[in-house]
Amino acid sequence: MTDKREWEGPVGRSWAEEWRRTDRSFAELTPRLLEAIAALPGGDVVDIGCGAGQLSLAVADARPDARMLGIDVSADLVAAATIRAQGRRNCAFALADAATWEPDRGAPDLYISRHGVMFFDDPVAAFVHLAGVAQRGANLCFSCFRSPRENPWASGIAALLPAGGAPPDPHAPGPFAFADPRRVAEILESSGWRDVAFAPHDIRYIAGQGPDPVAEALALFARIGPAARAMRELPEDERPAFQARLAEFVAEHRRGDTVAFGAGVWIATAVKA
Ligand SMILES: C[S@@+](CC[C@H](N)C(=O)[O-])C[C@H]1O[C@@H](n2cnc3c(N)ncnc32)[C@H](O)[C@@H]1O
Repeated sequence: MTDKREWEGPVGRSWAEEWRRTDRSFAELTPRLLEAIAALPGGDVVDIGCGAGQLSLAVADARPDARMLGIDVSADLVAAATIRAQGRRNCAFALADAATWEPDRGAPDLYISRHGVMFFDDPVAAFVHLAGVAQRGANLCFSCFRSPRENPWASGIAALLPAGGAPPDPHAPGPFAFADPRRVAEILESSGWRDVAFAPHDIRYIAGQGPDPVAEALALFARIGPAARAMRELPEDERPAFQARLAEFVAEHRRGDTVAFGAGVWIATAVKA
């Protein structure tokens, strides 16, 4: 589980410091998401949970006449994205909770998101709000992970943890909260969205790349995702064994200059009802 408060604080800070590695981890997803977005009209575009802004910047470049706004609850990530956008006239970033954000210009006609919509405490309320402030017929296009079983980078790390503890709530805000398309369709259809569709994509989650991809992957996992959480939360005497298992797991997945894991994602689309 990763909720808004964690994104506002240390988790957002880690992502802001590690944006080059997190962008790389999504390197095979981004072009597919951009292709899905390119099929949709939209001149007032909002990127929900924009993070350090890679998707916003790419869409702003692809649509020079559009107004692109990325919103995020992490001040550190908004600052990182703002630096990256310097010199662009059609792309801005703002600190805002998507569940309550109010446009201070035209109503959006296209929402996009790369893995930024699974963290709402109350997803129905958030999507009701987003529909309410959007133009009639506005489009929505976002990516999210499929189940942990279809994401060996996450299930593999979970398997390295000491056994025990309650199983996590699959619907709690977090990377897998939108894994079940039936649940997500129900959320969207009950919050003012129609024509909900899901396209499955199988990609590689690129944890590390370069002359020492294992060190790169371990640097990513030390700051981002379930391994970083485990290292924070495990009792101190259990950490060295976990780190040793993680290093072995990462090394097993090295192929040449890359450490990558299978990852299953949805690209979801919907239209404001
Ligand atoms: C997994 S990260 C993805 C970041 C970025 N879209 C990317 O692809 O690199 C999720 C993002 O959602 C943001 N977020 C979480 N809850 C949010 C909310 N209620 N409103 C706006 N942003 C939110 C987080 O701060 C974080 O930047």
